[in-house]
Amino acid sequence: MLFKTLVRPVVFRLSANDPEIAHHLIMQQLAVASHLPLLLKIIEAANGYASPRLERNLFGLHFPNPIGLAGGFDKNGHGLPALAALGFGFIEAGTVTRYAQPGNPRPRIFRFSENEALINRMGFPNTGAAAIAEHLARQPKPAIPIGWSLGKSKVTPQEEAVADYLYSLHKLDPFADFFTVNVSSPNTPGLRQLQEKEPLDQLLHAIVDETALLAQQTGRTTPKAVLVKIAPDLTEEQIDDVIDVCLQRNVQGIIATNTTLSRTGLTRQSAETGGLSGRPLHTRAVEVVSYLYKRLEQKLPIIGVGGIFEPDDAKRMLDAGASLIQIYTSFIYEGPGIIKTLNKSLDHD
Ligand SMILES: Cc1cc2nc3c(=O)[nH]c(=O)nc-3n(C[C@H](O)[C@H](O)[C@H](O)COP(=O)(O)O)c2cc1C
Repeated sequence: MLFKTLVRPVVFRLSANDPEIAHHLIMQQLAVASHLPLLLKIIEAANGYASPRLERNLFGLHFPNPIGLAGGFDKNGHGLPALAALGFGFIEAGTVTRYAQPGNPRPRIFRFSENEALINRMGFPNTGAAAIAEHLARQPKPAIPIGWSLGKSKVTPQEEAVADYLYSLHKLDPFADFFTVNVSSPNTPGLRQLQEKEPLDQLLHAIVDETALLAQQTGRTTPKAVLVKIAPDLTEEQIDDVIDVCLQRNVQGIIATNTTLSRTGLTRQSAETGGLSGRPLHTRAVEVVSYLYKRLEQKLPIIGVGGIFEPDDAKRMLDAGASLIQIYTSFIYEGPGIIKTLNKSLDHD
């Protein structure tokens, strides 16, 4: 409540010309808090919500609740302890690339407050896998599962994509509980083509093999789980191909969905390119999760993401077949209180 009446109006006004300013302001505070153990405890006491009914066990990991932060919010992992203290059950950090890169020119995030939506064409700005790993080595690791989302560097040619992902996988292995292979962001040229059957098969084959090798080298009994994140704009045939490859290559889960190229649900015309997220994405994201659930016959768990704002949206996504859910745009519009609101309602459902 305090967030919507007090914090949001100020932060949104300060960043009216470039919403990314708001993001950096908040990330800076999260990064500072992440190194202050007493403050983390206070944040946790104010925001946490625990109940045995919310706990989940998947991918050999324990999730204290099913509400996760979606990929792309904490790209460099500088605020993970503070984000965990806000009450998330898990966090997907990144997307990280092999090489440090600035992303697309700003402005590259656009607010559509009347529809509680965003368009973004960030293009994976991040400090690169090696620098991120160095930073993580100096920061406490939160107690909740942390996944690292891996993407392709813009400068890397398509035919060298596999090596690019493997480099980041190696660097982040000590800090990751699971990995997400991001082949679905619309803002890196050629990335979505990696969702096609052959390139996806090559990529996943190499990544899953590498996690097995890393497990052997580090004396772990089981390799870390590899998940794939897909776009909402795939046809049923394309989703079928993704499922076939995931099952064949021992991928452990599918995240659906990333942002959409569609502009359905926006009431204001916009020529901005990029991916649309938030409320207008919800119906399609649920549809994709339903389809995956039907086709997967419970062979793989699904993480549902897209336009989850209300307890009913969360329930709809779980009823469609998701085992866990993630939020991003509603976290921006509603503030951190949304995590507890969703968890409370699921607990009392
Ligand atoms: C500004 C912004 C940046 C994003 N960056 C990433 C990213 O780097 N990697 C990724 O997998 N998804 C990224 N996403 C997509 C979200 O993780 C999520 O899949 C999508 O926004 C739909 O969920 P939502 O409607 O709850 O926001 C980004 C979304 C936004 C709004």
